[in-house]
Amino acid sequence: MESFTYSYPVMVYFGEKAAVKNLPAELAKTGENVLLAYGGGSIKKNGVYDELMGILKAAGKKVTEFTGIMSNPTYEKVQEGARLAKENGIDFILAVGGCSVIDCCKVVSAQAKLDKDIWDFEYTEHGAPAEFIPMGAVVTAFGTGAEMNNGAVITNEEKKSKSPLWGAFYDFAILDPAYTMTMPMQQVISGAFDSLSHSMETYMGSPREVNLSDEINEATQRNIIRNIRNTLKNPEDIQARSELIWAAAMAENGILKIGKVTDFQCHMLEHQLGAYTDCNHGQGLAVLHPVLYRHMLPEAVHQFARLAVEAWEISSDGKNEEELAKAFIDALSAFIREIGLPTSFAQMNIPEDTDFKAIADTTILTGGCAKKFSREELLEVLLECR
Ligand code: NZQ
Ligand code: ZN
Repeated sequence: MESFTYSYPVMVYFGEKAAVKNLPAELAKTGENVLLAYGGGSIKKNGVYDELMGILKAAGKKVTEFTGIMSNPTYEKVQEGARLAKENGIDFILAVGGCSVIDCCKVVSAQAKLDKDIWDFEYTEHGAPAEFIPMGAVVTAFGTGAEMNNGAVITNEEKKSKSPLWGAFYDFAILDPAYTMTMPMQQVISGAFDSLSHSMETYMGSPREVNLSDEINEATQRNIIRNIRNTLKNPEDIQARSELIWAAAMAENGILKIGKVTDFQCHMLEHQLGAYTDCNHGQGLAVLHPVLYRHMLPEAVHQFARLAVEAWEISSDGKNEEELAKAFIDALSAFIREIGLPTSFAQMNIPEDTDFKAIADTTILTGGCAKKFSREELLEVLLECR
């Protein structure tokens, strides 16, 4: 195992009526001025807004609304939120939504306390923000597990870059499966596939010999695969939904990463694809993963072979390691088709004339990946995905 330090700052409230039961006590610890952040309005249609506003009012809070946070949140939106927070003397941010809202607020919370541009501060000066407006998250769309970490993925349209920015950890996260029941099924599936991808990206890092984190990871992957199938069979199955929500959190709460240097090369490629096309994150990963993994096969054969058996429950009888590794990639591809995710960029309406070379040339190359990809080979991967 690599050396590690582990501590965990986020209080998690999971289960039915988690907001009603726990938000009042959390709000009692915060100042009066609350920024209520949300997306395009789904929370107004499903009753979540009314329930939370009732709790905020009962706690005597003065609420400023920060609305319209889009999927793949932009740097401009972050700046809008930071301005609102400063102008209104915000003491506490309540982020309500999927990862886009949750990520956007992580950076708002830091930018509002920083008197310089946070992108330049992190990328040019290599600084790390140290002061934040405290925050809580109410998760209404699951998959990324973003409520569990302090990394945000932000699209800087001017710089044509979708990249990580480091912000605050949430003080608490509220995970009530009932709040997610109105998610469109396509979003449920692409979100859950993202959780599977996070688990695989963590597993595929180094060291390449299996450790305790990897064995917990194998169980997480098996669980996600089974519960995606159960959710598709019965979208009202709240047990399956609950498992998927917690699996998403498990993939990002640091436990699977203990003692590992993670891979995340597929994610870095997908993020740049997102910067150029604004595509759905989980769908982009679904198209890229099998193609990228076929390119990684020689270097990752041992880990793929083990995943075939432990995550995909493929019998090893009569198969050598390479055959098992190929069986893993085949199972992953078949699963992506089975659950209705796209298998090509064409199915995602990504135009043929997208500047794939620029995407390959600007993708972050990761240290933990089994294969050291060249930009030329990343371009090959992208072209094969068309
Ligand atoms: O905006 P509203 O109207 O709320 O609608 C949203 C949005 O259209 C809708 N939605 C959310 N909860 C709902 C609901 N609709 C009905 N009922 C509900 N209960 O869902 C749509 C998608 O939301 P979004 O937050 O964009 O999706 P997701 O959670 O998949 O987040 C995607 C973003 O996360 C980034 C991605 O790159 C992308 O920008 N990621 C962040 C990570 C992190 N911070 O750890 C890791 C990931 O790898 C990922 O890169
Ligand atoms: Zn992801």
